[in-house]
Amino acid sequence: MEKPNTYSFDSNRIPQHVAIIMDGNGRWARQKGHIRLFGHRNGVRAVRDVIESAVELGVKYLTLYAFSIENWRRPQKEINALMALLVSTIEDELPTLMKNEIHVSTIGNLLQLPIKCQQSLEKIKRLTDNNNKLTLILALSYSGRWDILEAVKKIASDVKIGILDPLDIDETVLNGAMNTAQFPDPDLLIRTSGEQRISNFLLWEIAYSEIYFTPVLWPDFTKDDFYKAVIDYQGRERRFGKTSEQIT
Ligand code: FPP
Repeated sequence: MEKPNTYSFDSNRIPQHVAIIMDGNGRWARQKGHIRLFGHRNGVRAVRDVIESAVELGVKYLTLYAFSIENWRRPQKEINALMALLVSTIEDELPTLMKNEIHVSTIGNLLQLPIKCQQSLEKIKRLTDNNNKLTLILALSYSGRWDILEAVKKIASDVKIGILDPLDIDETVLNGAMNTAQFPDPDLLIRTSGEQRISNFLLWEIAYSEIYFTPVLWPDFTKDDFYKAVIDYQGRERRFGKTSEQIT
């Protein structure tokens, strides 16, 4: 039976946006003597649990780093299996997403994904468009540098055709040109598996995010691990460049 959530959260300090680098599927599988795909398959359980916990706590945006641009360098067999897993998970989870009023969105260069994957994503985004309890943002064929470069190209083109003065380029203009334009910056970034790096994820958006590293491998990540990360976040003092005295 599932353990009830026994943590006491400060309801005024629930992170509005949590972003997660789900890492460690391959190592988890290897430790158990299985192929990497076994880890990815078991990672889906953790995805489900984290979404449920986010809804339960009242998190409004959850971004999951599901496939980076750099992940295209993996063996073709693993890429194909990951894409197939993504499509089957999307199709299977649609009723649950509708029931829980979850809106699915994406960031990344979706045109690089197999056509079947693009179609499934378009369908789920369209069908969940009116849901507004949680926005689940899947980062697919995404990297932070890619997004910044794309935004810079859009801005340069607006300057070239004369609809933008270079002197008017500020953070709001750059924000507005990014894939993440409609979403607030993450308050909390979680990375599993003990690796302590950002791996080209949301480079612009995490300027003031609180970062939480845990050694837990993604397929072992539970609701309890998610709650622990939020409790840790609630214990942090977010100063945004100000002094401690100014905050209190
Ligand atoms: C990182 O572990 C994990 C991924 C690149 C893929 C994550 C995908 C899933 C959890 C499955 C489906 C996801 C959704 C959103 C439905 P790794 O392979 O880099 O592990 P390693 O570092 O131990 O090798």
